[in-house]
Amino acid sequence: MPPADATTDKPAVKSGLAAFEEFHALPISEKIALLSRGRELYHCLFAEQFDRPLLDRLGRLCDHLRVLTKTKEGDDFVATVLSHRRAMLYFSQPSTRTFLSFQNACHILGMKTCEIRDPRTSSEMKGESFEDSIRTFASYTDIIIIRHFENNFAEHAARVLHGTPRVVPIVNAGAGTFQHPTQALLDVYTMNRCLEGGIEGTTLMLVGDLKRGRTVRSLALMMRHYRDVRILLVSPPEFRMRPDILDALRAAGVFYEETSDFAGALSEADTVYMTRVQDEHDAAGESRAVNVAGFVLRPEHLRRIKPKAIILHPLPRRGEIDPAVDLDPRAAYWRQERNGLWTRAALIAMIFGAEKALLARIT
Ligand code: NCD
Repeated sequence: MPPADATTDKPAVKSGLAAFEEFHALPISEKIALLSRGRELYHCLFAEQFDRPLLDRLGRLCDHLRVLTKTKEGDDFVATVLSHRRAMLYFSQPSTRTFLSFQNACHILGMKTCEIRDPRTSSEMKGESFEDSIRTFASYTDIIIIRHFENNFAEHAARVLHGTPRVVPIVNAGAGTFQHPTQALLDVYTMNRCLEGGIEGTTLMLVGDLKRGRTVRSLALMMRHYRDVRILLVSPPEFRMRPDILDALRAAGVFYEETSDFAGALSEADTVYMTRVQDEHDAAGESRAVNVAGFVLRPEHLRRIKPKAIILHPLPRRGEIDPAVDLDPRAAYWRQERNGLWTRAALIAMIFGAEKALLARIT
């Protein structure tokens, strides 16, 4: 039995692990409906929450924000829009870009931020329960942005809050080996900006540890909203994309091909998306046995890549792209990184219903 309508905010279901497992087993579409609180975007937990109209709207808001904030007047205005809101950044896994871009995105919108980056400094260490910790974060802030090693931590946090009188939006800023939807949003935005004619009709090459890379999993799902996209999944056999994503692509009619021939696939790609080995998820150092030497982008490969292609990487890189490639005009990963700022600001603005007020302000 699915839990009762969560839009009422009534403690309709028992909280705790049993209740979460029941909830977690629901299809994502049902979970999204239960967690939406009557708004199109409230929690941001899964790539599946974004359809094409929403992606297009986010893109427009990003464009608008980057122009608005170019002048002092515009930037000052943007900083008034959510100056009555507070954000909590709960990052229990290492992060540079996602943390800084979320924090600065909040500041661009005038929000105050607080953070826990090391759970050893919080009362979790005194044995406080998961539920009490999440409720406490919600007591002091209006949105909780979470990065966690566990796949379901953010989803669980959202579920817990729906059994309490105070519900605040939860944003997944990287969930284990599961998903990283906001990275996929900034990747989509970057591809749309940098590819002549946008994403439709292009070939996306995803390279590296596709098995555990949460960015490529979320990005592949987003590609279902763009016509005639081909995906080349390029990895060593040990790091192949997991079947859940392949099934979703097949069901949506997205053409994909799996290969280990990195150099061969390069000439077909419009977007070359490189990733690192996610060895923090190794059980016993098993990544060391995988030969990834053939999945490195070096200057000698550049002549194989289409003249108008783009090269992306969610970063941090650890040797998958030779720094000499940075000089090539097709290297777009530093622009991609900066786009994280606008995308996350646009997302938060949308969650708080500030889209209209921002768009109404002419530059
Ligand atoms: C990615 C992540 O954390 O999944 N980094 C990021 O958010 N920019 C990719 C990675 O760490 O490999």
